Amino acid sequence: MSKTITFHDYQPQIESLKNAVIAGLSKTAKSIPPKYFYDERGSKLFSEICEQPEYYPPMIERTILSNNSDEIAYLTGTDRLVLEPGAGSATKIRLLLEPLQPSAYLPMDISCEYLRYSAAEIVDDFPWLPVHAVCVDFTHSIPLPEAAPDSHKLAFFPGSSIGNFTPHDARAFLDMVRKTINPGGMLLIGVDTKKPTGILNAAYNDAAGITAAFNLNLLHRIRDETEADCNPENFEHQAFYNQQLGRIEMHLISRCRQTLHLNGDEFLLDEGESIHTENSYKYSPEEFIALANKAGLHLVQHWLDEEALFAVYLLKS
Ligand code: AVJ
Repeated sequence: MSKTITFHDYQPQIESLKNAVIAGLSKTAKSIPPKYFYDERGSKLFSEICEQPEYYPPMIERTILSNNSDEIAYLTGTDRLVLEPGAGSATKIRLLLEPLQPSAYLPMDISCEYLRYSAAEIVDDFPWLPVHAVCVDFTHSIPLPEAAPDSHKLAFFPGSSIGNFTPHDARAFLDMVRKTINPGGMLLIGVDTKKPTGILNAAYNDAAGITAAFNLNLLHRIRDETEADCNPENFEHQAFYNQQLGRIEMHLISRCRQTLHLNGDEFLLDEGESIHTENSYKYSPEEFIALANKAGLHLVQHWLDEEALFAVYLLKS
């Protein structure tokens, strides 16, 4: 069978780490956005997080997808153009490709090199599937290459990546997805649920310390890629569930009073002061369905594991 892979480069311009650090450390409540976690080492550490026993989402979502793949395909129908914003290593879609029989698959990712590699792996294993790899920052736009087939669309957004957005931004993102997949579009999305705090806190504080290394890697990047005199040893990882706001928060906590120098500026950190690095919002099924409805997306079906640790929703516009 012929293998077809086409590469489309929309030249994502990730703002420089240096500018993000200067902007983030200038705020009263210091913060740096989570997208800066993902250099090569950060991406590897994230894959390692996904293998930690405390970090339940990947395993549970996989089980939900593989147990229900036939029903999912029955509800979506075959021959859809499947697009996946932030596809990364594109492993979860593999569980669905045979039953879904897409007209084509469009993995989208900001990391062009990684995308080329994972798209090539997909065509190796699914030679019947036309693949259009789209290199783009999907938080800004979701472009559909003209060369892709003009069939009804199915967007796939697994892993609770939606949790990195505030509910306000999540709604705006879902709105953009709806506009992209219309008419007749559907969205299959994996979202982490609310659950006892102990389970959530453990998931972001694994015993092997991988999540801590992932969080602290941001400081390694700042040290190595900007001229900031940043010593990662002067910080510690902190992650906790903020019940009021329904989100995990990750912070880097300054172990001492210290000053960072960058770009001729001085940034003072008090002992115990935080740099907020990530939010990971959790939604009960009722909350998530209401959020999707506000973005014009309506529930077709949803699936949870027996302990309701994770949910997968099929929505249509
Ligand atoms: C990739 C954003 C879904 O929020 O659970 C995992 C990232 N951070 N452990 C999440 C993450 C720390 C993850 N997302």
